[in-house]
Amino acid sequence: MTVSFEPAPAFPLKRGCPFSPPEDATAFRESGRPHRVTIWDGSTPWLITRHDHIQQLLGAVGMISADVTDPGFPNTSDAQPAVEGNIFFRKDGTEHLPVRRILNPDFTAKRSEALRPRIAELTDRLLDDLLAMDGPVDLFEHFALALPTVVICEVLGVPYEDSTTVHESSKKMVQLAIAQDEKVAAHRALHELLARHMEAKRSRPDNGLLSRLVNTHVDDKGDLTFEEAVGLGVLVIGAGHETTANMIALGILALLREPSQRDLLLSDPVAYSSTAVEEMMRYWSMVQTEPRRVLTEDIEVGGVLLKAGEGIICNLPAANRDPLVFADPERLDITRRERKHIGFGYGVHQCLGQNLSRVEMQVAWPKLFERIPGLRLAVDESELHFHDDALTYGVETLPVTW
Ligand code: HEM
Repeated sequence: MTVSFEPAPAFPLKRGCPFSPPEDATAFRESGRPHRVTIWDGSTPWLITRHDHIQQLLGAVGMISADVTDPGFPNTSDAQPAVEGNIFFRKDGTEHLPVRRILNPDFTAKRSEALRPRIAELTDRLLDDLLAMDGPVDLFEHFALALPTVVICEVLGVPYEDSTTVHESSKKMVQLAIAQDEKVAAHRALHELLARHMEAKRSRPDNGLLSRLVNTHVDDKGDLTFEEAVGLGVLVIGAGHETTANMIALGILALLREPSQRDLLLSDPVAYSSTAVEEMMRYWSMVQTEPRRVLTEDIEVGGVLLKAGEGIICNLPAANRDPLVFADPERLDITRRERKHIGFGYGVHQCLGQNLSRVEMQVAWPKLFERIPGLRLAVDESELHFHDDALTYGVETLPVTW
C-alpha cells in the first residue's frame, strides 16, 4: 500500500472499499505511531489508529478532555461549541459523571436484559407490518431505524402510538440531505412531545426514564430543571437511534453477503447471537469520526510526544482491525471469542446504551432471517450508497425483497 503521510490527509478519510477501514487509517496504524490529519478548519489534530494507543489515551483520565468549547478541541464544525457545549458527554469529571449517574440505572445490563421479551415482541410487530408490504422495501427505514425507535420509547415510557412521531422526527434528524430548518423543526417536535409526556407523568408515574427524571430528579431531588430533564430524553433518543439503526442495517448486509455466517447464526441463535453482535461491532466499527478529545497534559504515544492543547481523533475502524489484538482481523467470524473491540468507545465516556443496543441486535438479526428466509437485496450491492463522512458509517437505504 502506498500512502503519503505528508501533507496531513483531509479528514474524514475516504474508504476505497466499503467493507474495510480507510486505507490511510490502516497505513497509519501499521506505521505504529499517530499521524496528523487536516480537518475542515485547516487545523491538524492527531489521528490515533492503534488499539493500544486509543486505550492509553481514552484511559488517561485527567490528562484529556471532552470539552468541545476548549480552543484545541478538534471540532466537527464552527457551530459545535455552541450546539454541544452544555451537553454532559462533552464535559469532564464533576460536570459529566453526576449526569451519567442519573441515566445509568435505565441502561444497566440487567435492565436491558429484562427488556428482551418486549424487544422480541416489538420486533415481531415490525416484521408483521413489513410482511404486509409489497417489496421492494427499504429495510433501513422500516426495520433498522424503526426498531431502536420503538425500543427507546419503551425505555422512556412513551406509548407505542406516539412512537410514529418519534420515528418521523428521528428519521429527519439522521437524513443527511435535508434542510437545516426541517431538522430544527423535527428536534422541536420531539422536545414538545417528551415535555408533554413528562408533565403527565407527574400525576401518573410509571417505571420509565421520563417518569424517573421528572419525579425523582426535577421534583424530589431538584438536581435537574424540567428543561434539562426533557433535554436528556431527547439526547438519549438522538445518541441511540442513528447508531443502533446503522448497526442493525450493516449487520443485515453482512449476513446477506456471507450466507455461511447467517446459516451459522440461525443454526443456534442462543449460542451465536451474542458473539455475532460483538463481531459485527468490531467488523463495522461504525462510529467512524469519534471519539475526539483535547489533551490537557503532554502524553507520549508510540514514540511521539503529543502536546497539551492538541486535539486527537480516535479511529475505531482501524483499531478494531488491529492484527496485534485480533487474529485474521479482516475476516468476519461470528464465532470469534475475543471481546476486545472498542466499538462502544473506551474509558469514562464509554457508550451509555451499549447493553440495550446489544439486546436489540441479538434479537433483530435472527428474527428477521427466521421470519423472512428468502430475504435478499433488491439492488446490486454496487448501488448501495455508504456514507464516509458522517459520524456513523452506514447505508443510506437498504432496499430488499423476499
Ligand atoms: C450500536 C449502537 C451504538 C454504538 C456503536 C455507540 C457508540 C458509542 C461510542 C463509540 C461512544 C463513545 C463516544 C466518546 O467517547 O466520545 C458512545 C457514547 C454514548 N452513547 Fe452510544 N452507541 C450506540 C448506542 C447507543 C444507545 C442505544 C444510546 C442510548 C441510550 C447511546 C447513548 C450514548 C451516550 C449518552 C454516550 C455518551 C456517554 C458519556 O459521555 O458518558 N448509545 N456511544
